[in-house]
Amino acid sequence: MAHGLSGQGIVVVGGQWGDEGKGRIVDTLAKDCDVVVRFQGGNNAGHSLHIGETSLVLHLIPCGIMRPDKICMIGNGVVIDPEVLFQEMDLLAGHGVKCTADNLKIAKNAHMIFPFHKLIDAARENKPGMQLGTTKRGIGPCYEDKVARFGIVASDLLSPRIIRKKLENIFGNRFLDRSSDLSIESLMDWAQMIGNRLAPFLCDVGEALEHFLKQGRSVLFEGAQGALLDVDHGTYPFVTSSNCVAAQAAIGSGIGAHWLKEVLMVSKAYCTRVGEGPFFSETDPVEQERFRRLGNEFGATTGRPRRCGWIDLPALKYAARINGATGLVLTKIDILAGLGPIKVGVSYSCQGNSGLSFMEAMAAFNEGHVVSMEYKELKAAGVMPDRAEKITDFPQPLRDLCSMIEDYVGIPIRIISYGRERGQEFFISHEKN
Ligand code: IMP
Ligand code: MG
Repeated sequence: MAHGLSGQGIVVVGGQWGDEGKGRIVDTLAKDCDVVVRFQGGNNAGHSLHIGETSLVLHLIPCGIMRPDKICMIGNGVVIDPEVLFQEMDLLAGHGVKCTADNLKIAKNAHMIFPFHKLIDAARENKPGMQLGTTKRGIGPCYEDKVARFGIVASDLLSPRIIRKKLENIFGNRFLDRSSDLSIESLMDWAQMIGNRLAPFLCDVGEALEHFLKQGRSVLFEGAQGALLDVDHGTYPFVTSSNCVAAQAAIGSGIGAHWLKEVLMVSKAYCTRVGEGPFFSETDPVEQERFRRLGNEFGATTGRPRRCGWIDLPALKYAARINGATGLVLTKIDILAGLGPIKVGVSYSCQGNSGLSFMEAMAAFNEGHVVSMEYKELKAAGVMPDRAEKITDFPQPLRDLCSMIEDYVGIPIRIISYGRERGQEFFISHEKN
């Protein structure tokens, strides 16, 4: 391929707090790939796709499923809510996309979200002082059970004996109320029903993937959430419960790290966040409303209005480092046209100190101080062209923005999208470098 992004082991990850447009980019890249794999998170993710007349949101099944000849996999690092998985299969069937054991493979050792995980998540969110603004999808409690070593994996569903033993263990450890709707008997019935439908899709995803990679087939790893929501490296404790950075692509799909060749980190040309936690470039409510209206910034999973602000370069540079990004992808650049003068966050200030780095800003925030973003301003973008094939097709302020991002982060931009439809993006070759 001319753009050189169809090789083996391309990881697509988020460089902000999720919702960067990863799904849209995976859909673009999947055209030239053979296999698309999800490797972390669960149905807290919401990957929006607009393909011709069709608009849909995928939460669990990789976006590659929308291209007929692709194989999609859900790796061991994903937590699976089977009810959502089946709803998604049915939704896809309604769009003429059939999920079969041939085009969808699910790791038999992926952990399963049970109904009680969702109840625990929601109960915590409703408790004063405990709010993180989670999606209440049971993601955190399911990962907790995994790490606590009493989680239930997909293949367990095929054995009533194992399921009963594990449920007994979970009920004991979690002090769940057996007299409620959540009796072990009713969960056994539920698990058996789920297991029967899931069985044909289960396999050793790592083994299947390595088989493809050894044949020289190209594999695309579809990240969910974003670097700043990573449980280790993000804005802890305001994070999700999985690792969202690129290295997780190997762990969460069961292959060796050496197969990951390219890490494309996606960022919006501005920034959003859903849920609680620091967001240093968040703008005032009136300006946020304009971002929200122009960029349709409402959660694809929960419908919550997203918090909005300008692009934060020190945070992006930090995200590029923890991801090991080899290239950047810039999305929704068209939204900036129409917002007036463009602001670019370049450093932070706190208690009279300016020029702070992201780590310094986070340390100050964690100590309870107010941190402000310091900006450089660019002129208003003006009118966007209907079609663009290269950066020079853009108005000067957007070209300046792209140069600023590349210079600051120190990594080339490889793809820019300027609209939600397939084709409203272009690749940038950096072979001359
Ligand atoms: P959880 O992942 O549901 O536990 O939520 C933890 C935090 O991550 C909350 O602030 C959520 O809003 C945020 N979050 C989780 N998944 C996504 C996503 O796919 N996009 C954006 N934010 C997310
Ligand atoms: Mg999303």
